[in-house]
Amino acid sequence: MEESSAHGVLQDASERAISYLQSVKNRSVIASPEAMRRLDELRHALPQKGVDSIEVLRRLDEIGSPATVATAGGRYFGLVMGGALPVTVAASWLATAWDQNACFRWTSPIAATLEDVSLQWLRDLFGMPEGVAGAFVSGASMASLTGLASARHALLSRLGWDVEAKGIYGAPELRVVVSEEVHVTVLKALSLLGLGRERVILVPTDRRGRLKVDSMPALDGRTIVCIQAGNVNTGDFDPAAEICLRARQAGAWVHVDGAFGLWALANRNFDVLTAGLAEADSWATDGHKWLNVPYDSGIVLVRNAADLRAAMSANAAYLAEGAEEGREPSHYTPESSRRARGVEIWAALLHLGRDGIAELVEQFCRLARQFADGLSSHGYEILNDVVLNQVLVSFGSSEATRAVIDSLQAEGVCWCGGTSWQGRTAMRISVANWATTETDVDLSIQAMVRAATGSPCV
Ligand SMILES: Cc1ncc(COP(=O)(O)O)c(C=O)c1O
Repeated sequence: MEESSAHGVLQDASERAISYLQSVKNRSVIASPEAMRRLDELRHALPQKGVDSIEVLRRLDEIGSPATVATAGGRYFGLVMGGALPVTVAASWLATAWDQNACFRWTSPIAATLEDVSLQWLRDLFGMPEGVAGAFVSGASMASLTGLASARHALLSRLGWDVEAKGIYGAPELRVVVSEEVHVTVLKALSLLGLGRERVILVPTDRRGRLKVDSMPALDGRTIVCIQAGNVNTGDFDPAAEICLRARQAGAWVHVDGAFGLWALANRNFDVLTAGLAEADSWATDGHKWLNVPYDSGIVLVRNAADLRAAMSANAAYLAEGAEEGREPSHYTPESSRRARGVEIWAALLHLGRDGIAELVEQFCRLARQFADGLSSHGYEILNDVVLNQVLVSFGSSEATRAVIDSLQAEGVCWCGGTSWQGRTAMRISVANWATTETDVDLSIQAMVRAATGSPCV
């Protein structure tokens, strides 16, 4: 079989991608039964002889595109899923063509430079001091793992223990304080670090899901406190100012899980929520949520660069190529070989600018309020104070709410998942995609009312 030219296959891919993005808004959010059935066509034995690239692309598009969940379309409100701004998709295409290994500055000067620039812009945007270091990882889970590894390093080295060399066996004991609302990925990071997901001290939360500071134990230099900027149900923030002050006085470490909420620092209208966040010691956030860059993209920031560097250190003679000038990316990340994630982050930051990022934050929260107002005007109960982009709605009993979610998901105009909030079953709406418009919200409210009443909304 004749191998298609590189030019031909890349052109074909871009045309197919463009037409996917043009049509994705008008199709069902979920894959149709027919699309799901066609996936079986992919399940054949590995061919003896390879298939031409244009044919590979054809199969991928014709069978694959209809079997996607239309998260790019603007009416997907499950989990906390961002979209990908067109400029970031385009930057990602170019970066993929470059095929850079972002491990070292000498394996990719451009990737390292865009990381430098993006980190500087992020520090400025978030109001963090110059010395804050960072790394580009696969998501907020890895960002929390990396931030908490830095915390473990810092606290144990102050106690005279080299945890990277000796491990945690025989180490002085650390305590980890989390709220009852801690995200599961923080617990997973603690378990991976040998700090134990069940050894945490759980602090109760208030009706908005915020850690109750008065119920926190006394802090000391052996304590890591994990707080949230953006509760995954309510969108609310733990009171960072008070917690960071107490931690600073006691020599404790504060780690912020700000997977989406950290970006609220970019908009002064959210100052009441974000107060004190910049005083923490480490922060985890996602690029692929509120910044709307393609997967997978997370960012970890650590106040004291030396802590991050020590926690991520690795040495091997054959890797020590070239004189180290400036920040060497692999010295700050858990991974070695890595795609150049900083490219898309840089592209998004440059394209949006400070105003555009602030407006994106505003847009998500404005549309969430539109959901809350619209649904409550139809008589449905909103269970949270809509302070950010998350809305919890009840359609009556648990069974009634679950039935609405099931029927909404089956219809495919929009997609929302379920949750349990303070003992009540709720439908959870998360707005995080640049592509979502007021019309999308109206159409989705109509679909929700249809699902709840079995008749069109008037
Ligand atoms: C508050 C919070 N923390 C952590 C995560 C995990 O992020 P990721 O899936 O990017 O690792 C999420 C994901 O929704 C989240 O909402």
